[in-house]
Amino acid sequence: MDEHIRAALLQIRAELRPDLPVAVLTGAGISAASGIPTFRGSADSLWENYRPEELATPEAFARDPELVWRWYDWRRAMIAAAEPNAAHLALARLAERVALTLITQNVDGLHQRAGSRGVLEFHGSIWRLRCTACGRTQDDRRVPLPIPPLCEACGGLLRPGVVWFGEGIDPAIMSGAAAAAQDCALFLVVGTSGAVHPAAGLAAVARDSGARVLEFNLELSAVSREVDLFVPGSAAETLPLLVP
Ligand code: APR
Repeated sequence: MDEHIRAALLQIRAELRPDLPVAVLTGAGISAASGIPTFRGSADSLWENYRPEELATPEAFARDPELVWRWYDWRRAMIAAAEPNAAHLALARLAERVALTLITQNVDGLHQRAGSRGVLEFHGSIWRLRCTACGRTQDDRRVPLPIPPLCEACGGLLRPGVVWFGEGIDPAIMSGAAAAAQDCALFLVVGTSGAVHPAAGLAAVARDSGARVLEFNLELSAVSREVDLFVPGSAAETLPLLVP
């Protein structure tokens, strides 16, 4: 790693203190080292091999719920077999040293398995199912799932508790994330292409509110112009440098 970047990270590490408000936005790149494919950017990325409009929209689910469920069931099995990596663990440790708000676009639950609490799941969770008839949600970790999974309460068709393209972010999560970006002194962006809003807009909110913005990514992304320090490399190798 470039010596200037390493020195800057060690300097920020030395300034960490319990009342320092820090906000973090993570994307699929943080789970790549755990063997979970990202959505964009490499040959095995999900959207290189599957069409989001066929699998990640309410229309696609209405058209063919079993096709959509078979895809989510495949992803659930892959995630269940994965382990949090050093980047997830570093963020769980960081929460013990600063006043941390962890915002993730990931639906995999690996932050929570690494020990992070109060995670703002911006795009929902692949482990939460919602009834399309009675609206009831239930946590469900069965792998494999019976397809299609049905509601325990009313027998209605369950859908994945994730935010699909064309759907809105939970208002409570949106306002919590925006407040954390506005109030933080340090904002970390980890493993996101910045392709999807409103999540990708949080870095600019933080910067415009005077926070120092750091990005951890293999390559420059759509949010890189908002950051003060770009840290190249795999987050599993670079992020632990920031947290004792
Ligand atoms: N360490 C750090 N960054 C990485 C690593 C790694 N080991 N591997 C990949 N990356 C970076 C890539 O360079 C890319 O910038 O992670 C990013 C992954 O980008 P996407 O696949 O677009 O994932 P994300 O930004 O989370 O997607 C946003 O899009 O499809 C929707 O709802 C889905 O939440 C998702 C949203």
